[in-house]
Amino acid sequence: MSKSTNIVWHDSKVTKEERQKLNGHKSAVLWLTGLSGSGKSTISVELEKELHAMGVHTYRLDGDNVRHGLNKNVGFSPEDRTENIRRIGEVSKLMVDAGLITLTAFISPYREDRDNVRQLLDENEFIEVFVKASVETCEERDPKGLYKKARAGEIKGFTGIDAPYEEPNNPELIIETDKQPLQESVKLIVTYLKEKGYIQ
Ligand code: PPS
Repeated sequence: MSKSTNIVWHDSKVTKEERQKLNGHKSAVLWLTGLSGSGKSTISVELEKELHAMGVHTYRLDGDNVRHGLNKNVGFSPEDRTENIRRIGEVSKLMVDAGLITLTAFISPYREDRDNVRQLLDENEFIEVFVKASVETCEERDPKGLYKKARAGEIKGFTGIDAPYEEPNNPELIIETDKQPLQESVKLIVTYLKEKGYIQ
């Protein structure tokens, strides 16, 4: 339920389409979803570097980073994760309106939450990228030692261990990080953006 009342929407005199035209490319969200340690952040960092070098206007939103600021008051309960993703969805919408290719890297474990973000955006503005790696692989990588802590019972409700991850049913892209090297994953996404006419 919204608490904001007596508010009126103000239109800009510059449209999203005009911003896109100035930038020379379309705007959209590349929504990377997957388990902790699946490679979302690594891919998004490399991908942004590549796109930036190509002259594409980008911005990257990352779970750990956003939770240091905007979302510092949300935790990892199911409700908090939903609120986390809802806010990121809204921020992504603003970024797309600003004309940016926006890269997000959040576990976003619930299908419904991701679908709500898709609904929030216009058609073709939400590109769901399933960063796929088995729990076993992620646990083996364990870059932050969090799986170890979760197994030891020091973290409760850890995704993939004692909290769910709902795989996308129909993602635009699947990146299998235990099968393909990083540069190949980046290339696959760049090729997709070109083929679909988001970028030149
Ligand atoms: S979510 O589910 O989308 O709201 O999570 P997200 O904002 O992407 O944050 C995930 C990062 O938080 C750390 N962390 C946890 N992950 C999963 N479950 C629990 N309980 C948890 N507690 C802390 C972890 O470092 C995640 O980072 P990534 O980059 O995904 O490994």
